[in-house]
Amino acid sequence: MKPAVILSSYTMGLGVIRALGTMGVPIIVVYYDNQDMGYVSRFVRERIRAPHPEQAEDAFLDVLIELGERLEGALLIPTSDATLSTVSRHKERLSQVFTVACTDWPITEQFLVKKFTYALADSIGVPAPRTVVPQSVEDVERYGRSVDYPCLVKPTQSHRFYAHFKTKMVKVENLEHLRSTYLQASDAGLEVMVQELIPGSDADGVNYNSYFWEGRPLVEFTAAKVRNAPPCFGSPRVAVSQHIPEVIDLGRELLAAMGFYGFSCTEFKKDARDGVYRLMEVNGRHNLSSLLAVRCGINFPWLHYRHLVFGELPPATDYAPGIYWIDLIRDVGYTLRHYRRERYSPRQVLRPYLEPHVFAVLDLKDLRPFIKRCVNLTKRGGNTR
Ligand SMILES: Nc1ncnc2c1ncn2[C@@H]1O[C@H](COP(=O)(O)OP(=O)(O)O)[C@@H](O)[C@H]1O
Ligand SMILES: [Mg+2]
Repeated sequence: MKPAVILSSYTMGLGVIRALGTMGVPIIVVYYDNQDMGYVSRFVRERIRAPHPEQAEDAFLDVLIELGERLEGALLIPTSDATLSTVSRHKERLSQVFTVACTDWPITEQFLVKKFTYALADSIGVPAPRTVVPQSVEDVERYGRSVDYPCLVKPTQSHRFYAHFKTKMVKVENLEHLRSTYLQASDAGLEVMVQELIPGSDADGVNYNSYFWEGRPLVEFTAAKVRNAPPCFGSPRVAVSQHIPEVIDLGRELLAAMGFYGFSCTEFKKDARDGVYRLMEVNGRHNLSSLLAVRCGINFPWLHYRHLVFGELPPATDYAPGIYWIDLIRDVGYTLRHYRRERYSPRQVLRPYLEPHVFAVLDLKDLRPFIKRCVNLTKRGGNTR
């Protein structure tokens, strides 16, 4: 069977490694962060340490090209935004030695650079938070006088901002705070947006996952977030499969307008003011909780592999609702740290563990990634990430 080369092996990468590894696909991992835990999975045949995909782009591409020539035909799957960005920009060159599992750059740019995603949503009437992109401090002063506070200063490219500030976005309370946050970001060379804050709880966030081909969704799966890490503006630490019909058409319209193909996870948040689902973002790669859909009966990485390698179009598939996905270490860590603020009852905290569930990392049949994560955690003095 053709090997799959998985780029980056943190939680998303690990999900793809297991989803394909259990189907017998030979797995090769290229990673650039020693904190990753996916590369110690029992499914990994070979692991290669590479330079950072964006900070040392040429050297990273050299590693891939050399690997591609040696493998003589493998599926290349970027599972982080940094690897996706570089691979998509250089897709033509990489396609000479790999089958590349991502969109061409003109499409990738529309979701990886979020100002384009929101502009597209506005142009086709998909509800999204009001967003402006200041080009100068003068713009910030002008917008800052008319927006409602609190609002968000949010990067147009999330992964770059996170790598620099170790936070996804900043909730600002007033014009002064807005100005100083903007200046910090622009000093770091990062473009930001000023965005309306959509009120609601973590559990109002939902995912529309789909496999698109020729402008149509072939397989669809929806899930609700349960708790985020950190609360409010983080990524999910617990999610649950659920049929959420309200976001199906919105997701379809947006992806079709984008010209998207392949797998993606589109995030919405239900606005507590009017119950309307508003767009958060499109992730045009396998998402954090990819093992949730697998556990519910839809193995998206395997469908993706079969389509790109064997030419088999994925059939529409139903899935089981009410199954939980739990990132155990982050759930325990954040639940303890934020118990006063979050105010979950013991029943709410325990419910995902008592219902059918799958863990993000812990798997008794593939224990080493979990052990490595615990070791990393101890080295970082208990700081979950
Ligand atoms: N405008 C907003 N209003 C309320 N919550 C938001 C808003 N934008 C983002 N969030 C919260 O922050 C999370 C991360 O934002 P997202 O746009 O998905 O960025 P990332 O690419 O970093 O995941 C969202 O899932 C949501 O919970
Ligand atoms: Mg997100």
